[in-house]
Amino acid sequence: MSVPPVDEARLSSEIEELARISDTPYPSVTRVLFTETDLRARAWLTARMEAAGLVVRQDAVGNIFARWEGTDPSLPAVATGSHIDAIPDAGRFDGVVGVLGGLEAIRALQEAGVRPARSIELIMFTAEEPTRFAFGCLGSRVLAGVVTPERLARLRDADGLTLDEARAAAGVGGDVQGARLAPGDYAAFVELHIEQGPLLEAAALPIGVVTAIAAPATLRVELSGPGGHAGAVLMHDRHDPLVAAADVIRAVDRAARGSGGEDTVGTVGLLTLEPAAVNSIPRHVRLDIDIRDTDEARRDRVLDEVRAAARAAAESQGAGHSDEILNRDGPSLSDPAVIAAVEEASAEAGLPAMRMVSRAYHDCVFMARICPTAMVFIPCHEGISHRPDEYSTPGQIADGVRVLAGALHRLAA
Ligand code: GLV
Ligand code: MN
Ligand code: MN
Repeated sequence: MSVPPVDEARLSSEIEELARISDTPYPSVTRVLFTETDLRARAWLTARMEAAGLVVRQDAVGNIFARWEGTDPSLPAVATGSHIDAIPDAGRFDGVVGVLGGLEAIRALQEAGVRPARSIELIMFTAEEPTRFAFGCLGSRVLAGVVTPERLARLRDADGLTLDEARAAAGVGGDVQGARLAPGDYAAFVELHIEQGPLLEAAALPIGVVTAIAAPATLRVELSGPGGHAGAVLMHDRHDPLVAAADVIRAVDRAARGSGGEDTVGTVGLLTLEPAAVNSIPRHVRLDIDIRDTDEARRDRVLDEVRAAARAAAESQGAGHSDEILNRDGPSLSDPAVIAAVEEASAEAGLPAMRMVSRAYHDCVFMARICPTAMVFIPCHEGISHRPDEYSTPGQIADGVRVLAGALHRLAA
């Protein structure tokens, strides 16, 4: 027995319970790093982990680790997990399925009487979503040691608070750099997640095995001008940064569509302007631009094209301009042995699987820097994600958990 029975009803009711710890009404979920709501969700989760007999610790960036001790604690553990933070007005499954599903996988193995040699650790990663500090995968970046102290010190939220100030307010102490893990600390990492795309549903397949994750990047462009009265400043006297921003938005769309590759995507997801009054010409405009591709070089060409277009747009308006690459990450590749463990578990569970690429990013991108990884995807309705109507059925989620449990069992045996 490698694939144990899973308590679908218990898991579903926990997902529904966690969905209600949110700053927006059900089924919308909003849980932003270290808000009062996020802290309540973390406490709720910790209690569940402890109820399963797991030993829980939190590191200096707020990652939560729950350990089920193996029969040989000296061996590197096998890890699973994901995130429970949620972007504004999101759904209840993104990330949560990997955390509560990971917990259910451990409980299923425990209840089936399994005693793995390696310990199994469930990780809830801090701030996979970039909402608060415009920096996704904060917790897993820190674990992988890929973020410098200078970069962390520059993080600011919308109120100008630093990460250290936000940590202090949340009661999370300690040296963030000390949270870094070493290669070899974990034997393997497997993340369960909803697909966030339509392919599994279209193929009527219950399981996706992720072989690679597309390379994400975030570019911030800031444009400025003198502003002024919307009635009094005549058109020939204007240097309107929002008009330049319109050209930038067009350029993102054009560059991504024209990259020559089906996998290039570009999005302006955040546009802020000041002073934001109907009778005032904007003085300052900020665009946060998300650009991704499975082909890193092509992604970088699009990034360069957008930067050049932003410079030209600012020039043609006589507007001020600056830009900053907030993150530019490479793609990540899954490990053949971890892929094999997932595929064997799928076969044993009688669940057909297909290999696929993840176009969304995940903490797995950074865990792959320190240990062998793979991901298990399950279908979600019409591929919808980052929306309140994101949905996977309890049965689809339970299938993913069975495969995860089987893979963990194999990797930890
Ligand atoms: C993660 O949420 C992503 O934006 O891919
Ligand atoms: Mn997400
Ligand atoms: Mn996610």
